Amino acid sequence: MSIAVTGATGHFGRLTVEALLRRGVPADQIIATGRRIETLGDLAGQGVSVRRADYSDEASLRQALAGADRLLLVSGTEVGQRIKQHTNVITAAKAAGVQLITYTSIVHAPTSTLLIGQEHRGTEKALADSGVPHVLLRNSWYIDNYTAQLPAYLQHGIVGAAADGPISGATRADYAEAAAASLAEDGHGGAVYEVGGPAFTMAELAEVVSAETGASIKYTDLSVQDYQAFLVRAGLPEPIAASIADGDRAVAEGELYVDPADLVKLLGRPASPLRAAVAAAVRDLR
Ligand SMILES: NC(=O)c1ccc[n+]([C@@H]2O[C@H](COP(=O)([O-])OP(=O)(O)OC[C@H]3O[C@@H](n4cnc5c(N)ncnc54)[C@H](OP(=O)(O)O)[C@@H]3O)[C@@H](O)[C@H]2O)c1
Repeated sequence: MSIAVTGATGHFGRLTVEALLRRGVPADQIIATGRRIETLGDLAGQGVSVRRADYSDEASLRQALAGADRLLLVSGTEVGQRIKQHTNVITAAKAAGVQLITYTSIVHAPTSTLLIGQEHRGTEKALADSGVPHVLLRNSWYIDNYTAQLPAYLQHGIVGAAADGPISGATRADYAEAAAASLAEDGHGGAVYEVGGPAFTMAELAEVVSAETGASIKYTDLSVQDYQAFLVRAGLPEPIAASIADGDRAVAEGELYVDPADLVKLLGRPASPLRAAVAAAVRDLR
């Protein structure tokens, strides 16, 4: 059985390929795809089949997915283009005879008020319309979104607009391991998983960062508008600042909360704790 992974040139797809290899899926049964395939030399060296695929180039998708039985479709990064791009992938997968597609959606996609929710709903509809059996991994936030900002936290403290909303964060590696399980195991077709780890608030994140660094890090909560302006002042482009501030609005409204049960089920163990992820990020920094 051959398993193809899109976005293998990015963090999530690569982690999924690595998780498939750890599970014992033979390297020659894995197809790792992306645009920047020059970054996949180490996987090719292990026997993984590496193929170039661009979500906007239907011919490249048809060639990349030839012979694949199952597919991980990692949501793309080009906001505004993604329903068309993801539909291209689904169409090519169907033509290639793919029997199962796992898609990385967003938590509570049908009702999500997140700005990014619409493209995930559009992709879920394209999957339903395709008739190809699929698995929806409706993921909450990556803990890595926060740990990546550790240097900024240490310099300026933690700033956001999430109030005391619960964030069911899990590490990107755990989400990827869950994706690998949904592809390598039988019996997941048709499943909808709302995926996330044990919830924490931004104030709790600040406590964990303080404990792990020895610094006194506080969380400052702003209005959504003020947070967006803060991000623009920090150098982010307006649309990205708007999307991040909108994410915090949704957190404050409880939309990023999920019961951790689905992730535990997929992993066969509890999710990696926030504290361990922060500790690892602190070690990487030093
Ligand atoms: N839940 C969360 O907290 C969260 C946070 C951030 C992102 N996300 C979503 O999760 C996805 C995976 O996250 P990540 O951390 O792995 O992101 P990432 O490291 O930026 O990787 C994104 C991947 O998407 C691929 N891609 C984008 N546009 C493409 C296109 N037109 N054709 C083919 N491949 C394309 C990239 O391929 P190339 O590099 O080869 O072009 C790359 O492999 C993101 O794309 C985003 O949709 C979720």
